[in-house]
Parts: sequence; C-alpha cells; structure tokens
Amino acid sequence: MVLVPVLVGVGVLLLGEVILFGLHHLSRHAGGRLRHLAVLLVAVRVGLGRSDWASTETRVEILGWLTTACLLACALVAYSIFDAFFLRRVDGSGEARVPALLRELGRGLVLFATLLAALSAINGVPLSAVVVSSTVLSAVLGLALQDVLKNLFAGISMQLESVPRVGDWLNLDGVVAKVVEMSWRTTRLRTNEGHFLIEPNSRLAELRLTNYGSGAAPVAFAFHVGLAYDTPPATAKAALLAAAASSPGALRDPVPVAMARTYGDSSITYELRVWTREVDALSWFRDGVLSRIWYEVRRAGLDIPFPIRTVHHHDVAGGKAEGERRERARIADLLGRLDLFRGVAPEILAELAAASRKLFFDDGERLVREGEAGDSLFVVDRGRVLVSKAAEDGGTTNVRLAVLESGSFFGEMSLLTGEPRSATITADGGCEVLLLTKADVEPLLAGDPALAETLSRALADRNAATQAAFAARRERRSVTSMIETDHGSILKKVREFFRLQG
Ligand code: CMP
Repeated sequence: MVLVPVLVGVGVLLLGEVILFGLHHLSRHAGGRLRHLAVLLVAVRVGLGRSDWASTETRVEILGWLTTACLLACALVAYSIFDAFFLRRVDGSGEARVPALLRELGRGLVLFATLLAALSAINGVPLSAVVVSSTVLSAVLGLALQDVLKNLFAGISMQLESVPRVGDWLNLDGVVAKVVEMSWRTTRLRTNEGHFLIEPNSRLAELRLTNYGSGAAPVAFAFHVGLAYDTPPATAKAALLAAAASSPGALRDPVPVAMARTYGDSSITYELRVWTREVDALSWFRDGVLSRIWYEVRRAGLDIPFPIRTVHHHDVAGGKAEGERRERARIADLLGRLDLFRGVAPEILAELAAASRKLFFDDGERLVREGEAGDSLFVVDRGRVLVSKAAEDGGTTNVRLAVLESGSFFGEMSLLTGEPRSATITADGGCEVLLLTKADVEPLLAGDPALAETLSRALADRNAATQAAFAARRERRSVTSMIETDHGSILKKVREFFRLQG
C-alpha cells in the first residue's frame, strides 16, 4: 500500500510547517532557511519508514543515512530557535547578549556533535574511527588553516572583551575608521571618506590601535601650537583656552586645558587638550579647533612663528630702538595717570619709565611676600594681583585685602618706611608689572616733597582698609596696635627715612 506512507508523510509535513509557522511568527529568526528542508526530510523519512520499497538491508541502510540527515537538519533548526529566543536577545545597551561570532561557533559545534553521535549510533561507524579520522583531519586542517584559525581566535577574544565594538571609531596606523561589522575572520571598517577597510582579526589584535569609542564617552584630543617667545605663557594659555571655549563640538566638561610643552627652535610649543564626543566628525572637530586657535591668537595680538619662517630684511637695531621708544612712552603715560605721580613733569615721568623694569608673572606666583625686606615700588601694567595678609591665628589662613588692577601700585609701604613687606602680593592670572627701585624714586621724592605727602596718605588709607578688614574678622585688638593709620605720623616716618626737609 503506497497510500498510507504518502498520507503519513504529507501529514508530518503539514504538522511540521504549522509548528514552524507559529515559531516564525514569534521570532522571524527562528528556524532559519533550513526549516522547510528539515520538515521535508522528516516527512520523507517517516513516510519511507512505513513502506517496503526495497530489500530490508538496503532500506535499513538508506533509512539510517536519511535519519542522520534529519537529525542534522533538526539540530540546526533547534539551534536557530534557541538562538532566536535566547542568544540573540538584546540587553539594555541594545546589543545582542552573545556576540555573532560565538553564536556561529556554537552552531558549528552542535552540528559536529550531532554528526558524531548520529554516525556512531545510527550508521554504525565506530566512534574511535570517527574520532581518529576527525583528529587527523583536524591536524591537517589545523596546519592548512593556521591563518584562518588565528583570525577566528583573535575574533573570539575581541568579541569576548568587547574591544572594539561595532560602532567604535579606531585609529589604525593613522587611518581613522568606524567598525561596521565583525565576522569570524575579518573586521570591516568604514572611513569618513566612504572607504571600506577589511582587516583580518589577527592583525587587528596585534596592532597598537587607538579606540576613540562611539561618542558615548568624551575623548580628548591634543593640539600643538607654537607661539612666539615674547608671549608670556599665561597670555598664550588664556588665548588657547578662549579658542577651545568657542570651538564647535568642544565640551566644557571635562574642561579644556592648555599647557606649555617645549621650548622649540623658534617658538614655545603649547598643548591645548580639548574634549569632545564628535568622534563621527573628527576632521571637522579638528578643523574647528585649529581655525579658532588662529583667530583667537590673532585677536590677542600674538604670533604663530612656527612652522612658517618669515624673513624680514630690515634695520634690526633701528626697529628695536623704535619699539623701545614707543614702549617707554606708553609706560610714561601709564605712570602719569597714576594718583601717585599726578602733577609730576613729563620729562621726569619719561626718566622713571626708562628706569623701570618690566616683570612677567604667571598665575599664582608670589610677587611680594609678607615679612620680607624690600625697597621697590611696583605698578600693575597688565592683569591683576591679589593683596592678602596672614590672619592673627598663627599664619594658617590669609585675609584677602584687595584686588589691584592695571594702573594700581603696591610696595610703597616698605619703600617709604623701610619696614618689612606688610602683605603678600599674588598674581591672579598672568600679569605684567613695572618695577621701580628706591634709587629710581628717591630723586623724585627729594625734588618734590609733596610726593611723600601723597604716598603717605595712600599708605594711611591702605592701612585703614587693612584694619577694617581685620576688624571685620573680630581681630581688632591685636591688629590696631600693629597698624599705623595716622597720616601725620606716617609722613613723619617717611621724612625721617628719606631725610627730607619738613
Ligand atoms: P609693602 O608693605 O611694601 O608690600 C605689600 C604691599 O601691599 C604694601 O606695600 C601695599 O602696597 C600693599 N597693601 C597693603 N595693604 C593693602 C590694602 N589694604 N589695600 C591695598 N594694598 C595694600
């Protein structure tokens, strides 16, 4: 009877397809392409098993091989269902729980184990023969496929460590590209120019590559800029930081930093470190920062002497003398605008300007220390300084007395009275000050005794301010006795010190 086996076969086929349809409905990956073949094989095997279509021996033999084929196909379908429902499930970060490469490897192992079991259990092939021949085969294959295996294991280790991940931007020997796919043999990357790079996994594992990540976490990039030697580092760093602050794609947190790196042939090299998440558009980010540096540096009146060498044929001595003359005129003008030197004749101011020395200080540097001996007067030219005095608590804290901006002077107290410095002066940001020695100011005091009066009045006012600041800290008793605020007695001291006529 042919009808019964055919009906049984068709029944199995229909049942199998219904089950597969249901599974496929639950997950489109369940079963894969092999699922119909597996159902067909099972249906044929069940149908043929029900009829006497050949001699018993031949039938047993053929049915045995057919069973093995069914088992292999079913094992693959079962693995795909397991894969679809468990291995492929994405975790919170949107990535498959098990990397694709490992899932493929699992499929291969399931196939191999089913084949071994089926061959020995169904087809009567002795397991030892299968194992021996598969060992010999693996040895031969191992030798022949050394490179392939190297790539495979490199791929597995990269996927296990999740470094790099699909979506990460890598720098491979200077080429920046995004990982778009990782297979068991190669990793495919795409550059921003649309070029695809296909790197064997083993090479990728050996290379010293830089992984910029996918942009989820900020990464920093360093920009090196050479600025002229006569630019004070604080000014240079301030200009670079201003450039970073306005650059597209630059993050404020983490904050950008600017540092001096080396003293080069023709410039001081600075490093500006800027953080970004724009790893997808690194070239634009770099362009933005480098362009802003140029504009900012130009606006600040600074020079980028490197790598361009500008050769000027000009009278160096004459040019220098002219520059110095202009600078002296500027300083004389600045001094003339100070309360201190109001009314002083222009030629005397010019002499003072010529005698003054310009000093540069970095942020946080001490210009004057409380308690030290000193006899020089300072004028703030650019930037600002902080005036502070140790509190009467054993010197552990400082009391902020004043902030002196460009055009202010300090150091007059020691200069005029010969007493130790009454306060500490600290640079607040980079600053430039003019230094006048006692020898520079003395002739001026001798020639114009009214100057002593102005100075001692300023001194008295500052002492009064100091006293008020300490009074606010409830330290009045200990300090009142120390600080002289009476203008008359200060003036007397100054006259005695400079042996001026009353
Ligand atoms: P000198 O004592 O030579 O050195 C420290 C300087 O700090 C001092 O001179 C003044 O110029 C300045 N100084 C002291 N007290 C004050 C204050 N209260 N306000 C502003 N400047 C001050």
